[in-house]
Amino acid sequence: MTTNPSAVTASAATTRATERVFNFNPGPAVLPLPVLEEAQRDLLTLPGAGMSILEISHRAKEFDAILEGAEADLRGLLGLPENYKVIFLGGGASLQFAMLAMNFLPKDGSADYIISGHWAQSAAKEAKKLGKVNIAASTEAENFVRVPRQEELKLDPQAAYVHFTSNNTIYGTEAPAEPEVAAVPLICDASSNFLSRVIDPRKYALIYAGAQKNAGPAGVTIVIVRDDMLAKVPAGLPAMLDYKLQAEKKSVYNTPPVFAIYLVRLVLKWMVSLGGLVSIERQNREKAQLLYDAIDSSGGFYRGTAEKWCRSRMNVTFRLPTEEQEEKFVKEAKAAKLAGLKGHRSVGGMRASIYNAFPREGVEALVAFMKEFQRKSG
Ligand SMILES: Cc1ncc(COP(=O)(O)O)c(C=O)c1O
Repeated sequence: MTTNPSAVTASAATTRATERVFNFNPGPAVLPLPVLEEAQRDLLTLPGAGMSILEISHRAKEFDAILEGAEADLRGLLGLPENYKVIFLGGGASLQFAMLAMNFLPKDGSADYIISGHWAQSAAKEAKKLGKVNIAASTEAENFVRVPRQEELKLDPQAAYVHFTSNNTIYGTEAPAEPEVAAVPLICDASSNFLSRVIDPRKYALIYAGAQKNAGPAGVTIVIVRDDMLAKVPAGLPAMLDYKLQAEKKSVYNTPPVFAIYLVRLVLKWMVSLGGLVSIERQNREKAQLLYDAIDSSGGFYRGTAEKWCRSRMNVTFRLPTEEQEEKFVKEAKAAKLAGLKGHRSVGGMRASIYNAFPREGVEALVAFMKEFQRKSG
């Protein structure tokens, strides 16, 4: 009797899917299972292309359709007006730190930076190499347990732009609203809460986000930029670092990260199928609430590290009474299939990253584990 090879493959794939743990990693992070399954199916042959997504040309019509589909879904999800361009770039969010200063920080001008954490500091540090930076506010002296408040911001009405980080991945804080910046262009590093809530895109001159948290795998950064900003891009920039050129060439000036963009395309389709940002935001709010309730009702055993008014819905950071208990918690959680809970090495403690694709059942499993761990710890 011969075995059916495709049946064997299918059952092996099922086994591997059931081996998946709850992945609390901060990024690269969990991806939706239906997306991984579709990518797995397309890996050998992309429908209509007769070859793998890994093998097609970035100039092929199948890839045009992927780029167009991604852009259309992104526009639909955000309600993006016509006067914004969407670009998919390599180099990570960190490249944007320098690129936006190269494009928008004129020699005789300065830019305002709101410092709410490590990544905001990195953005300002890169910009300083290229021009004048004004620190509009910083909560570093408070170990970034909160984001700066509107009334603390020392904004320059002549600034070329204001830069802020909407969610601070390491410290577990999130700006509840955009800073008010009057007519100055607002630029946002949205890497760790991109597409996790409803926003009004018209408040922004430019939004950028590394895909590897909420939008896809590592390797691609999504940039949304308003047309009037593109008009300010100086002539003579290196081609790869020129937003205007990248927008004109529709993300295919050179060979872009094809596979990463393809996965972003699938994630966006999945988000649309969930009902868009209104329902995604509701789910995210509920997931975060479950976890914060568990922390707040633990009688002080678990301590949230962020101030309550600016707690992140994406990265929930907390501490236990001792570092020994924290170490034990991480180890036992991992054995219970709750992976990636160790906080960033610079701050310690715990961090549960619960991005869009992180399932509610995983949060419930963590809450149950936390209760049991506390009970056992007496
Ligand atoms: C808010 C934020 N900005 C920027 C970065 C840097 O991203 P990349 O590694 O894509 O350069 C990160 C990485 O975690 C981040 O969380």
